[in-house]
Amino acid sequence: MKEQLAKIRSEALAAFEGAKTSAELDALRIQYLGKKGELTAVLKQMGKLSAEERPAMGQLANEVRSALEAALEETGKKMEEIALQERLKAETIDVTIPGAVQKIGHKHPMYIALDEIKDIFIGMGFTVLDGPEVELAALNFDRLNAEEGHPSRDWSDTFYFDEDSRVMLRSQTSPMQVRAMDSMELPIRIIAPGRVYRKDEVDATHSPMFHQVEGMVIDKGITMSDLKGTLNTVIEKLYGEGTVTRFRPHHFPFTEPSCEMDIQCHKCGGKGCPTCKGEGWIEVLGAGMIHPNVLRMAGIDPDVYSGWAFGMGLERMAMGRFKIADLRLIFENDVRFLEQF
Ligand code: DAH
Repeated sequence: MKEQLAKIRSEALAAFEGAKTSAELDALRIQYLGKKGELTAVLKQMGKLSAEERPAMGQLANEVRSALEAALEETGKKMEEIALQERLKAETIDVTIPGAVQKIGHKHPMYIALDEIKDIFIGMGFTVLDGPEVELAALNFDRLNAEEGHPSRDWSDTFYFDEDSRVMLRSQTSPMQVRAMDSMELPIRIIAPGRVYRKDEVDATHSPMFHQVEGMVIDKGITMSDLKGTLNTVIEKLYGEGTVTRFRPHHFPFTEPSCEMDIQCHKCGGKGCPTCKGEGWIEVLGAGMIHPNVLRMAGIDPDVYSGWAFGMGLERMAMGRFKIADLRLIFENDVRFLEQF
């Protein structure tokens, strides 16, 4: 019996040691200490022992039981501790791992240029107007002295909404001159940026939709030198001091005299390159002294008041401002391009 007890003790302790889970440990507890367990089976044989043998054997059996119970408890505690450590390890949050980066957009380069242009004009006392892209042909053409039969009114040049060619997508921001004259008190100093539409094929310098900034001043004693002085100031503020401009005579129905303004090419500095098509100059706007007919149609006396107006291509201004070589880059919205600004 002594040997049996010793065997149970050593086997059980080894088994407890080898247990990997608390379920395994529980099964071992039942195997050795349960009602039908091995130790119990040995104890049941105590009755067969003589009265002298019994106390010593009883004591030994109790020692074995206590030893097994103590070992069970210790192993159980160790297991719990390990399980806890593992759970803590699995649940830890590493606060040093960088978070997922949120991509935040930013202003389109053309609108950066527009904001700069607006700021410059506002600083000179101009008001910024907004107007409709769906416009009356009467304002886009007739009131601007572009009579029926003017080539720009052709169906192949203009997007009309009706057979009678009365409503259209504005082909220029110039109707904003008329809207300003009709709604504002004199003197007037306005700019009016916005989209315009023409039936043009897309290429490096053309798009069926593009942006213009219209500008207009009407007051007493306004001359062409005011126009040149204002535009040169704006261009130098936008592109930097010493930027070279040139004014060429041109024709627009709503100005007399009319001109176009060019800026020396930002890419080649005037030598001639693909960006300026070998010219050395880039045309950025049309301008002129408001035609007396246009003033008269708005009820303004051309003998008392005079004014100038211009319409600049915003894409071209932005291209010059940020040294962009191809107009299409402005519209394609390729983030690899846009991210640079
Ligand atoms: N509207 C003209 C165009 O789209 C540009 C222009 C020329 C605007 C002369 C003006 C101006 O205000 O005075 O080509």
